[in-house]
Amino acid sequence: MRRNDADGGPRAKAVKRKGEEGNGAVPFILEAFGLQKSFLNPDGSPLPILKDASIQVEVGRTVAVMGSSGSGKTTLLHILAGIESPDGGEIRSSVEHPGLVFQHHYLMPEFTAWENVAMAARLAGKERRAAREIAEEYLRAVGLLERRKHLPTELSGGELARAGLARALAAESGLILADEPTGSLDEETSEQVTEVLFRTVRDRGAALVVVTHDPKVAARADRLFRLEHGRLIPETERAG
Ligand SMILES: Nc1ncnc2c1ncn2[C@@H]1O[C@H](COP(=O)(O)OP(=O)(O)O)[C@@H](O)[C@H]1O
Ligand SMILES: [Mg+2]
Repeated sequence: MRRNDADGGPRAKAVKRKGEEGNGAVPFILEAFGLQKSFLNPDGSPLPILKDASIQVEVGRTVAVMGSSGSGKTTLLHILAGIESPDGGEIRSSVEHPGLVFQHHYLMPEFTAWENVAMAARLAGKERRAAREIAEEYLRAVGLLERRKHLPTELSGGELARAGLARALAAESGLILADEPTGSLDEETSEQVTEVLFRTVRDRGAALVVVTHDPKVAARADRLFRLEHGRLIPETERAG
């Protein structure tokens, strides 16, 4: 039976703290059950996108979600991030502020790449100087150190995407949610960025949910789901 909002709190604020597992199993950092989300068609009729989407992500594990364009991947990721509310279902996470890589970078236009990335570290509680150093470190990792003083309008699409990744990593969260992080990158840059993303997550012992069309990104994840007809279908599971 599906658990839903009726058993706890306002559905808009679905993120809840989770207690100790206490049974030796790897705890889940993120769990979602029976997520539902509909939008409205221009004529006012409902447009169901998520119908019964469930996912469980263990601490330190990486999960990829593939699915055709328009299947609801971005909607799902935003709901998992807590920035969009589901119509039904339940989300639990032990991480209040995941690092988010948006499909459309959403850098703040009046700030340089460096300032945008440093701000994420500042919001995560770092001192000003430490935040700038962390920002520099991640900008270097994504190959953008030389562009750190550029405004978003002075960066290419691929550079904006990489700055967005650096910003998500700079919060040093235990959970990263990434929406097509290599979607606008050439093959060589994709490989570099994928390496940075997975290496950072692994070194930090963090968990990752990555939405992607890129088979090379999906191949690196521990588990792969396909989003189809509003449900998450498990495809593969790698041992370890
Ligand atoms: N605010 C909205 N109002 C109406 N329809 C929307 C809205 N946001 C997304 N959609 C529709 O929901 C579907 C899923 O969108 P999205 O989650 O962005 O898909 P994906 O990321 O898999 O390409 C699309 O068909 C899109 O047109
Ligand atoms: Mg999308």
